[in-house]
Amino acid sequence: MKIFKWILGALALVLIVGAAFATFNISKGNDKLAKVYSLDYDDAPIVSDSASLAMGKYLAESHGCQHCHGQSYEGSVLVDAPPFVVVPSNLTSGKGGVGASFSDGDWLRAIRHGVRPDGSGLMVMPSEAYYHMSDTEVGALVAYLKSVPPVDNELPKTEFKLLGKFILGSSDDMKLTPDMMMGTPRLDMPEKGPTVEWGKYRASVICQVCHSATLTGGQPPDPDSPFAPDLRATQSWGLDGFINTIRERVTPSGRALDDKFMPWTSFRNLDDTELEALYAYISTIQ
Ligand code: HEC
Ligand code: HEC
Repeated sequence: MKIFKWILGALALVLIVGAAFATFNISKGNDKLAKVYSLDYDDAPIVSDSASLAMGKYLAESHGCQHCHGQSYEGSVLVDAPPFVVVPSNLTSGKGGVGASFSDGDWLRAIRHGVRPDGSGLMVMPSEAYYHMSDTEVGALVAYLKSVPPVDNELPKTEFKLLGKFILGSSDDMKLTPDMMMGTPRLDMPEKGPTVEWGKYRASVICQVCHSATLTGGQPPDPDSPFAPDLRATQSWGLDGFINTIRERVTPSGRALDDKFMPWTSFRNLDDTELEALYAYISTIQ
């Protein structure tokens, strides 16, 4: 019978160690969530003349905002699973929307730094990409978002359940947005045209977050996403093949892109100049 006692003892030890491990990681997860980030942000003028509003609308429609925040920026429940509830906020000034209370600083801090007005970090919101938006563009984007019609849509808050806190605490790859900044500098915005310089700027704002800073392939922030391929592969496609892939989703080899992970329904709204510029830039990458 001694062997039974021994097995029970070993099991108890495993349980105790397991519980201690879980508690340790859950508390590490709680620490990550409790972190208060700097409320500094880089200022940008919010200009709401008609040209800026048109620019802001174009940016919102081509940079993925609707992909997560909904067609009318009314917010949505993106994930509702045991570990997390992920809720891209209602951005309008309707009931449940942040638009009614956000100051200009709150908008800029959230979009370019991933920080809420109370200093806590956002989750999933890709500010590590939007950090690279120029003052002119982010100012136009905020002006436009402040002008969209209010939609009443009260939503639950983004929440980490116990398992989510455990995952957040146990993996260094799980980070809140402010800890995901790419560390690459914000480029000066060149004059818009079908040029390598413009393509490099636009790639820094949209594509590098998933395809890596050099566009030679990378793991997107979403751990469920497939690898984002090396875009040098498109060099043999020709401009038409490239534009057709982004606009119509199908690569020249006939592979359809998955909109969930490669949000072409948003990027297809990039105008011809931008796609030409992106291709010109990608063509220079060795
Ligand atoms: C991949 C999905 C995704 C995309 C793309 C995205 N967002 Fe978000 N965004 C989120 C999520 C999720 C939250 C809420 C996160 C949280 O509560 O922790 C959020 C929060 C925000 C907030 C802060 C609101 C608050 O409640 O404090 C603003 C402002 C915002 N997003 C604006 C934008 C804009 C503008 C764009 C496009 C340029 C955009 N987002 C694109 C997912 C996304
Ligand atoms: C949110 C992450 C994400 C962003 C942002 C993103 N991509 Fe992608 N991209 C992917 C993933 C993931 C794939 C692979 C998709 C698949 O296999 O369905 C992909 C595939 C592609 C492909 C097909 C490549 C091939 O060889 O089949 C092209 C072209 C492409 N992306 C271009 C771009 C460009 C240009 C931008 C910027 C305007 C961009 N992507 C931004 C994630 C992203």
